[in-house]
Amino acid sequence: MIKPQGMPDTKQSVELGEVQETLLLPLYLRARESRRGDAIIRDPVAERIIEELQYDFDSCDRAWRLQLDVAIRTEILDEQTKKFIDQNPEAVVVNLGAGLDNRFTRLDNGRLLWIDLDMPDTIALRRKFFVESERNRFLAKSMFDFTWIDDIARCEGRPLLLIAEGLVHYFEESQMKEFFGNVADRLPGAEFLMHSISPVLVNRQGIVKGLNRMNAQFKWGIWSGREIEAWDPRYQFIEEWSFFDRYRERWRWTGWIAQMPPFSRWLRGTLKIVHFRFRGG
Ligand SMILES: C[S@@+](CC[C@H](N)C(=O)[O-])C[C@H]1O[C@@H](n2cnc3c(N)ncnc32)[C@H](O)[C@@H]1O
Repeated sequence: MIKPQGMPDTKQSVELGEVQETLLLPLYLRARESRRGDAIIRDPVAERIIEELQYDFDSCDRAWRLQLDVAIRTEILDEQTKKFIDQNPEAVVVNLGAGLDNRFTRLDNGRLLWIDLDMPDTIALRRKFFVESERNRFLAKSMFDFTWIDDIARCEGRPLLLIAEGLVHYFEESQMKEFFGNVADRLPGAEFLMHSISPVLVNRQGIVKGLNRMNAQFKWGIWSGREIEAWDPRYQFIEEWSFFDRYRERWRWTGWIAQMPPFSRWLRGTLKIVHFRFRGG
């Protein structure tokens, strides 16, 4: 639940760790997209929060590609999460690295349990804008502190969906292998919607305008979610969605190149949402 608006002249200062600070980009770019006449997504909560933050967002104003990336990934993740919730109205959804994301408010069906997990400093900031409730809990833990699985395991028997948006590329492949292994061991049957970039973008982070002034480094990328299946037979690839398949006209020339055979695998794998299931359960 969103908190009532603060005093207009008392802006909230932001002091976050390197990766944590990156949450400001999708927040700002969702708000910016939301204000377009032809917006892909509407996020009035993000629009309001950025007005209450003391942060210089000017360098993000030219990040039109990243804005489109954020809008499309928000749209795909909203669609796919809604699909899961429609099929499983009593589901438990764990939003890993939630930042100041507001998906619960958009998708709440009045029955599900939604857990926003993030680092303690981010959750402290989150609490300034959102109120925790019985069905929307906050977990102040790293996704690599696997005691969060003990917390989730108490909801045993309910269908479980994990979401990671703007998150996994900040970690080493070895860390992600450890993450997948722990989820497969302890949460069989869970599904996972993961936003991921390609190895090419990992090495060219500087071209992502808006991100280039932040210190957090990209570390891990994959061309396709199918690569993860080779890690362990318990990881089942279901589907993936490239951002270049939507709103081609807004991608300008990149959208057309993404459809041309020599470049299409290269570009289409660059920005995507991947859907997995952990076999068993
Ligand atoms: C780019 S932001 C994405 C935020 C949100 N998912 C969104 O799309 O608006 C990355 C998020 O990952 C969080 N984060 C960083 N390290 C983390 C960790 N070890 N475990 C969980 N979350 C982490 C940061 O605090 C931040 O909120």
